[in-house]
Amino acid sequence: MFKYKEKYNIAIVGATGIVGEALLNILKSRDFPINEIVAIASKRSSGSKVKYGDKLISVINIENFNFENIDFAFFSAGSEVSRKYAPIAANSGSIVIDNTSEFRYRDDIPLIVPEVNPNDIDLYQNTNIIANPNCSTIQMLVALKPIHDRFVIKSINVSTYQAVSGSGRKGINELIDQTHAYLNQQEIKSSIYPKQIAFNAIPFVDSFCENSYTREEMKMVWETQKILDKSISVNATAVRIPVLVGHSESISVETVKSINIDELLKDYNKFKGIEIIDNNSEYDFPNAYSNGQGTDNVYIGRIRKGLDNDKILNIWVVADNVRKGAALNSIQIAEAIINQT
Ligand code: A2P
Repeated sequence: MFKYKEKYNIAIVGATGIVGEALLNILKSRDFPINEIVAIASKRSSGSKVKYGDKLISVINIENFNFENIDFAFFSAGSEVSRKYAPIAANSGSIVIDNTSEFRYRDDIPLIVPEVNPNDIDLYQNTNIIANPNCSTIQMLVALKPIHDRFVIKSINVSTYQAVSGSGRKGINELIDQTHAYLNQQEIKSSIYPKQIAFNAIPFVDSFCENSYTREEMKMVWETQKILDKSISVNATAVRIPVLVGHSESISVETVKSINIDELLKDYNKFKGIEIIDNNSEYDFPNAYSNGQGTDNVYIGRIRKGLDNDKILNIWVVADNVRKGAALNSIQIAEAIINQT
């Protein structure tokens, strides 16, 4: 149960990972009211150090950690770790904000994008756990919320162009190693991805489901229906590309009402967390390299109505998958809880 305080005790589970590192950086740069911060990972990195501002903090093995004095526990160490330890933290009184898919589809656990469904947060009081959505879903739903509010979305067709940081440090290392090997005409080894990722595009993210969609694609379906509107039909194709950080998405929506782009742009310009980059004469549009790394907004461009249908809108959406797609969104959830009181 949440108690308002001047400052909070924070645990970062998965502190040595890509998302853990971003959590530490963002908490520091946003001046999150912190009393004490604890870095937690596996036995492997016990005793190693991570950076929090100018300080180095020692990493603690999760097996030895007692969550009793922790107010907010951010989990980013994979589903298995969350399955085992998130309930322990929650039962010890911590509010768990979980970045894995472990709890996302449970009816008694809220799944939150603060710009989209902030009113659902309160449901966490059932379990002390809040789920952070999948990175691809978060940026898509921020971009679609103003469209749905004004024109009512019936269906979504989306293709993703996802950076390797979505697979953690191992994904980044595989792209760098393969690129190096390719340029030096050495043997290319794949262990994280089923095909070479360097100089390639792989239409496979996560694992295959029985219906031939991938789990990443189905996450976009399930999570859109849980967060935005259960009546929206979603068809997704998730593609991994050789970009380090920054997911891009080509999204086409069909709406109930005719689209008016001028009205939409007014709504977009008022919406916190969205930035429009859409100037064809200057070749200006969002792109992962320029807009998807180290940034906090969701960037939208290439805004076009369907060629022969007023109820279709096509957009291109870019965001930092490590920040808005994971760490930043989690911190915004914690801030929303603090600010609600
Ligand atoms: P560790 O460094 O000890 O392996 P990424 O997604 O960037 O690969 O990061 C994964 C994060 O999850 C790392 O901090 C990693 O810690 C942590 N992690 C992985 N397995 C466990 C585990 N069994 N217990 C605790 N932390 C884990």
